[in-house]
Amino acid sequence: MKVIKKPSSLQEITEFLRLTGKRIGFVPTMGALHEGHVSLLLNSSDLCDITIASVFVNPIQFTEETDLEKYPRDFKRDYFICQKANVDYIFYPSVDDMYGENYLTEVKVKELSDKYEGEFRPGHFTGVASVVLKLLNIVKPHVAFFGQKDAQQCTVIKKMVTDLNLDTEIIVCDTVRESDGLAKSSRNVFLDETERSNAAVLYKALELGGDLILGGKYNNSQDVSSQMYHFIKSQVPSAEIQYIAITDNKLLDEIKDLNNFEGKVLVSLAVKFNGVRLIDNILLTKKGILNHVT
Ligand code: PAJ
Repeated sequence: MKVIKKPSSLQEITEFLRLTGKRIGFVPTMGALHEGHVSLLLNSSDLCDITIASVFVNPIQFTEETDLEKYPRDFKRDYFICQKANVDYIFYPSVDDMYGENYLTEVKVKELSDKYEGEFRPGHFTGVASVVLKLLNIVKPHVAFFGQKDAQQCTVIKKMVTDLNLDTEIIVCDTVRESDGLAKSSRNVFLDETERSNAAVLYKALELGGDLILGGKYNNSQDVSSQMYHFIKSQVPSAEIQYIAITDNKLLDEIKDLNNFEGKVLVSLAVKFNGVRLIDNILLTKKGILNHVT
């Protein structure tokens, strides 16, 4: 496994790999790797000849300076995790390598970037779309892997790829969870013992929402989200609920008529536990909750 720091060096390597007919898989990350990232890396090494991971804490997607400073960084640990997960190249650029002097360009996926997460983290998805477009231009992968855990991010990236005719297939991998249902996240290390056990309420609330929708008794999504809201508050009164959304999975429009909706229903939420902000979601079809953890 090789570590590459300069965008131009990686571009040379991937051009050669493409010429020799290799199928290139790419997994963009911000490091602090856990089992969620590993599942994307293993999916890539299963489906592609070459797997490239990027480790880059992208400053322009952070909306709070302290959040950027506090973001966990441990490249040595990430290196060994990548090595075990069959990665061939790690792209590990500096901020200067990515945003040299007088960097001016950004990409915004309108509307999708402003709702839900975007309302609480203005500018976040412009930072994400801009860095992902840069990374795709540097790596030029055939396939790029993203996690369902960040559902809105997947929606934004897929829309950018379609709208800008990018020649990369986007594969979304299932959310990897702890045994109590909490989604693995680099931010979980900031939870103390009580907050950690409180955070299990998120998946229970999502399951409740899923069951209520599938039960067919509630047609209005606001009735479902309000039940979820009260459930979280009854279990963890100090939880700070930022949003609970019941939407389609493509444009993230609220679903008003649940019983007559065809297609996948996305139930998503963002909740703060003593300042630690966690997001999670489930996807439903008429048959049930997809990838349900029991
Ligand atoms: P990061 O938070 O490091 O996540 C990298 C990838 O891992 C994302 O696609 C994310 O959805 C996925 N992931 C995180 N937790 C997961 C889990 N529990 N199960 C499955 N997949 C999971 O997302 C980012 O970085 C950045 O925004 C990035 C796309 C790299 C752009 O900077």
